Amino acid sequence: MKSEIKSVTASAPGKIIICGEHFVVHGSYAVAAAIDRRASVTVSSTGEKDSSISSRGLTASLDSKHGLFATTKAIVTRIFADYGKPSNGVRIYISSDIPSGSGLGSSAAVSVATAAALTKFLGHQPEESKICETASCGEKEVHGNPSGIDIHASVSGGMILFNKNSGAKPVPLNRSIQFLVVYSGRQRKTSELVSKVALKKKESPKFFERLTEAANFFSLEVVESVTGGDLPYLGAIMNMMQASLSWIGVSTSSLDALIEAVLTEDSYGAKITGAGGGGSVIVLPKADRADQLLKHVAANYKDSFLCTIPQEGLRWENPQ
Ligand code: MEV
Repeated sequence: MKSEIKSVTASAPGKIIICGEHFVVHGSYAVAAAIDRRASVTVSSTGEKDSSISSRGLTASLDSKHGLFATTKAIVTRIFADYGKPSNGVRIYISSDIPSGSGLGSSAAVSVATAAALTKFLGHQPEESKICETASCGEKEVHGNPSGIDIHASVSGGMILFNKNSGAKPVPLNRSIQFLVVYSGRQRKTSELVSKVALKKKESPKFFERLTEAANFFSLEVVESVTGGDLPYLGAIMNMMQASLSWIGVSTSSLDALIEAVLTEDSYGAKITGAGGGGSVIVLPKADRADQLLKHVAANYKDSFLCTIPQEGLRWENPQ
């Protein structure tokens, strides 16, 4: 009788950051939310000694020394160190509808789904806190000093208030809120932008500290405005945070032009989401104007979509 091949599939969402990116690395609160674009990871046995990772038509052996799939390799290596290496190798298959390098948390979603699926495949119950810890070692591989916000937003879904010391708290979403997400089409590396911001902090420590305090304050205000349904105020905070992000050097002239183009009578506010330097912009549409705004923006930016925040974070995709 043929032995059955066991496989485990987990998926996890990407994210947007509504307030506090970059400043969260330096200790402020920030607010993030899951988006309805996901990465999915399937783990199965290779039936051979070697382990492999595949995505978008590319395959690499776990032991290969080149940089392909560096994040996933770091996670697999960590899990093998924690739980023991299986006698047969594992095949890790990644698929994702989150564009990589877009500021929408693609690498965090892949890291979360990999950590969960491989842990379960090896016969262990994946606890949320352990998944966050394991997935973070992948994020550290790609951007030296992550706050952990992308990982937490992906694991928990919904909207979170996050601080790197105190962790994530869910923000109750008692009313539906929609953002327009616009991908600029320009990929960028989070690590380079995080390093650029660290230099800015060194140059102007006092002003940077004030902006970090402002990000902290306005993140708490974002929670109030979301729960109280005060969208004009939320939009004003987004515009103010965009000015801060610009000052710390993570906006670009093309992102500034994009933001100017989306700040129409149909929107309350717009800002970079994530590391900046390219990546994506989020826009807060006025009530009943979202479709109109999407139509206007999609003429120039095809990778634009309206996003209602999904409550679901990490999810199992096949019966376990
Ligand atoms: C990246 O999505 C968010 C940053 O604040 C980096 C981090 O928090 O790790 C830019």
